[in-house]
Amino acid sequence: MADELGIGQVGLGSITTAHRQGYRLYGQPVVAGFDPNPEARARFAAEEPDATVHETLESLLADPRVGVIDLATPHHADTRLPVVQQIAAAGKPMLIQKPFAYTYGDAVQMIEAIEAAGVTAMVNQNMCFVPGSLRLIDAVMKDQAIGRPTFAQVTVQYVFDLPDHPWFGKDDRWWTGALTVHHFGLLQLLFGPPETVYAVTGRDENQPGITVDGYGHLLLRYRSGLTVAITSTGTYYGTEPVPHGNEKIWIQGTDGIADWRPEGGLSITRRAGAEFETTRTEWDSERRWFPDAFGLTMAHFRQALAAGREPLSSVQDNLHVMALIEAAYLSSAENRVVPLAEIMGDRWNPDYGTGWSHGFGDWTAPGVQTVEAVPA
Ligand SMILES: NC(=O)c1ccc[n+]([C@@H]2O[C@H](COP(=O)([O-])OP(=O)(O)OC[C@H]3O[C@@H](n4cnc5c(N)ncnc54)[C@H](O)[C@@H]3O)[C@@H](O)[C@H]2O)c1
Repeated sequence: MADELGIGQVGLGSITTAHRQGYRLYGQPVVAGFDPNPEARARFAAEEPDATVHETLESLLADPRVGVIDLATPHHADTRLPVVQQIAAAGKPMLIQKPFAYTYGDAVQMIEAIEAAGVTAMVNQNMCFVPGSLRLIDAVMKDQAIGRPTFAQVTVQYVFDLPDHPWFGKDDRWWTGALTVHHFGLLQLLFGPPETVYAVTGRDENQPGITVDGYGHLLLRYRSGLTVAITSTGTYYGTEPVPHGNEKIWIQGTDGIADWRPEGGLSITRRAGAEFETTRTEWDSERRWFPDAFGLTMAHFRQALAAGREPLSSVQDNLHVMALIEAAYLSSAENRVVPLAEIMGDRWNPDYGTGWSHGFGDWTAPGVQTVEAVPA
């Protein structure tokens, strides 16, 4: 029954294998799938023998077992916008793979369709739901372990080159728009939108698989006085790689410093007189970004829907992330500091606050293999 929020997957490409692995771990029921590509449908049918395979989106949207859509078509306008509009018109809530859109303007068009239909939609910013991220969020947001954040640094430096992939890295908004967006999602949750961004984007001319946009380094300034420095590149082949998936993030607050990696533990260091004390938190090394974060993101969304709560990282909240991406590319192109207000116009609210304060922040993550009761 649709009331049970059975999952209908739209777009059955490579990332949806990780989705389904995560859904199995956290008891999230996939009941149907659609993709125009017969090979993708065949792969899905082999993996999910009990699910219905649909040959059209209309047919999937009419399936009474489908209560929530898991959308993972490529994020370019032609493969996102009409699909989102059709799902919204059918009145189905949807979880949309990051990045929400290719441009800020595309995102606004999707939100208009979603809001006109009155449906709830969340962006799959899965970095926010990595088991290790949940520990960081608890420490910074719930426990206030470092006080008020004043500075944060994000480092990602490794080689990411896919010369044989048909579309990854082949368009003019790749690194900042499709990769660093993971970090923007987490920063939005923790700190809310920055007021301004200064960015440099570009590529390593010797990298064959990334044609335009292989790195993006950013400085963000927030109304609270917080600043964030992001070094993010897929062009680095030196001796000290920091890979995506286990990036290095540290946050300085008025009461301490958090050193964190998604799969590498959390250290909170505080000053005690002239001494420094560090408390270290480790977690089950089996619980990783892939596939756990995908299962936990969907668990969060379905529980928010069942409870009638706004999910974290709703499309409305994620508009700030899209504005940051738009501002970053503009900043780099024009070599100037760009205020997010310039991108968002009337939608910019200087008092917005953190993403955390705009969603189901008191949600408790389920454990592995538990099936959460969703009211019938
Ligand atoms: N960690 C992550 O969260 C992560 C990782 C990889 C990719 N992604 C994102 O997921 C999205 C998909 O990436 P992918 O690697 O699966 O791409 P992919 O090219 O492997 O798969 C995309 C699928 O969408 C299908 N499709 C195209 N148009 C469609 C339509 N109108 N309706 C239904 N299906 C349609 C294609 O046939 C294809 O099977 C991208 O936006 C990408 O940025 C996220």
